[in-house]
Amino acid sequence: MKRQEFVDQLLKRAKGTPGTRGEAFAPANIALCKYWGKRNAELNLPVNSSLSISLGKLGTRTIIKFSKTSDRIFLNGKPAPKAFAERLSTYLDLFRPEGLFFEVRTKNNIPTAAGLASSASGFAALVKALDDLMGWGFTPRELSLLARLGSGSAARSLYDGFAVWHAGQRPDGMDSYAEGLSNVWDDLRVGILEVSRVRKKTGSTEGMNRTRETSELYRSWPAQAQCDYDELRTAIAAKDFPMFGKTAENNALAMHATMMAAWPPLCYWKPQSVSLMQKVWKAREAELELYFTMDAGPNLKLLFLTGDQAAVRRLFPKVQIVNPFL
Ligand code: PMV
Repeated sequence: MKRQEFVDQLLKRAKGTPGTRGEAFAPANIALCKYWGKRNAELNLPVNSSLSISLGKLGTRTIIKFSKTSDRIFLNGKPAPKAFAERLSTYLDLFRPEGLFFEVRTKNNIPTAAGLASSASGFAALVKALDDLMGWGFTPRELSLLARLGSGSAARSLYDGFAVWHAGQRPDGMDSYAEGLSNVWDDLRVGILEVSRVRKKTGSTEGMNRTRETSELYRSWPAQAQCDYDELRTAIAAKDFPMFGKTAENNALAMHATMMAAWPPLCYWKPQSVSLMQKVWKAREAELELYFTMDAGPNLKLLFLTGDQAAVRRLFPKVQIVNPFL
């Protein structure tokens, strides 16, 4: 099935009529069990289910209107870079009414494409804003099916707090949606350690495709991801922080191991990423319950509980601390 057919099938369920302006915010999310590998590239269907935590007020705000002459895309107040604008226009083609163009103004309060998942909040905010503009009246679950086509991880950014994206089994991808978990973990904190804001050379799609095609270690990934997903759900339900942190960190390192075993090899880490990881391990040896996760980029996201916030700040004075449930 082509993605246009998928969209047309979903749009049959749409209700209202288009307005003149749509606006929405979506949070960034950090995967604790990573999405890594596509089983269907056309429909962006994942090999494995994934689980994430959204970052509260950190994310993307998008305003969308119709435009008469051409698409006009702005990122953080300036005309967007060509590659970014083209990616959005291609996505908007899926929803474009005959002869119309869009004006999109999008603002991130997180760095773009430095592994802080801004494409996730970006596409989630865009589909929510489109829903507002077009008057579709879709549920978050339906919107997650559409956001998934822009960027897989965007499916999870439709929700605050914990979210899961079901891999699904159907060839048409209608069961590959995300949903929010009702679990609230008030004293959980995420710390962002920014190593670099430089745009990465290898995007996540290219990275996961190369890994799936060439890495011998990727064979063990689907089973590990399933196991980590189940463990994380158990740890979240029980608020078992050591189990939660260990599983998230192990899942991230396993994902990075699959990439390093790809050919040509792929490593998103910078020397500073490694020294930060070692600092976390040393702190843990000294009994601090501190863990990290990393996506397709050099930055670390720390996981800890509020009781350890002062100690984490002492160790990492530049850390940006987020309360995901605020
Ligand atoms: O959503 P994409 O296509 O940018 O891929 C995201 C991949 C990871 O960030 C590495 C993992 C994840 O689940 O977010």
